[in-house]
Amino acid sequence: MEIDQPLPLLGGLSASQFMRRHWQKKPLLVRQAVPAMVPPIGRRELFELASRDEVESRLIRHGPKGWSLKQGPFARLPSPRQPAWTLLVQGVDLHHQPTHELLGQFRFVPDARLDDLMISYASDGGGVGPHFDSYDVFLLQAQGRRRWSIGRQRDLRLQPGVPLKILSHFEPEETFELEAGDMLYLPPRYAHDGVAIGDDCMTCSIGLRSPAATALGADLLARIAEAEADALHDAVGAAVHYRDPTQPAPSSPAAMPEALQAFARDAVWAALRGADIIERALGESMTEPKPTVWFDPGEAPARFNEVALDRRTRMLYDARHLYINGESFRASGRDARLMQRLADQRSLGPADLARASDDALALLGDWCEAGWIHVD
Ligand code: SIN
Ligand code: CO
Repeated sequence: MEIDQPLPLLGGLSASQFMRRHWQKKPLLVRQAVPAMVPPIGRRELFELASRDEVESRLIRHGPKGWSLKQGPFARLPSPRQPAWTLLVQGVDLHHQPTHELLGQFRFVPDARLDDLMISYASDGGGVGPHFDSYDVFLLQAQGRRRWSIGRQRDLRLQPGVPLKILSHFEPEETFELEAGDMLYLPPRYAHDGVAIGDDCMTCSIGLRSPAATALGADLLARIAEAEADALHDAVGAAVHYRDPTQPAPSSPAAMPEALQAFARDAVWAALRGADIIERALGESMTEPKPTVWFDPGEAPARFNEVALDRRTRMLYDARHLYINGESFRASGRDARLMQRLADQRSLGPADLARASDDALALLGDWCEAGWIHVD
């Protein structure tokens, strides 16, 4: 990643400048971020995705009776000539290669922070109402026009009794009309309201993710507990049990012995102090595929020439491990560097593979069979 080179996608800012000046701090409007923008997906293809069980989609309408929300899949959608409706299709990048490639242009943000690319299709006047999101978002106008009103909004109270999150007292500070190829970046919790102007309005939302401390903590503890249970199962004879040879006779039999409390604290700390235990759990957690994702098993080739990660594969690494689709592997030396290149480039060529060790090739073979990587 060339981090100091000016990018048209960021209006001539480099990735470094963008991260320093705007990321998580203030909005950025970029006119013609993608010059001569062609939508990554057509309307028909998008509607077809919205008819599938494994694709998350929602239909939002706004009329005289207020807001309505329906969850997909949708066998039929309203006519594009009928006003004020929006179809939202989540994770289009998982199902559609050109959309996956568009998301790849946003890798100036760490992969661990990128979530998915959602596409909305709206008829004239369609929108999801004034709201705020907990994550950063890049709103790229793919086709047609949309008017965005945005504001820093202190009052985050929501309208009661509405099936979606709508701000009660939205006070926009600025309004921009976006045409195909224009893009708006918003930091988390920045209030926004996008209304389609005219028909055939398509917007790509490049969504970020940032784990909430409590949910992440709970997930990591569950993973660590599972790893500990496996380790205990393997070494069951050697399990250390509580011993209390100096326990006096209790005058209050129901009182918890303090030594048992100390033993429990030590047991928990010992589980958490294991080498890299939290780092491993984090890597597995952050590469866990979404619940709707599955992989089609493949076949390992006799000889590797080129490999590429499947578009659904999540792969990250740290100094001592590789993480791929919820699993972790220890790696060091040349093999680690090779696999780190695979994660960064999402592919390896013949020159890389010619120097791969037998262990690395065996691992690539397993991942091929799992459908996580492909050879052509
Ligand atoms: C939309 O594309 O209509 C909604 C995107 C958003 O507000 O985050
Ligand atoms: Co939003």
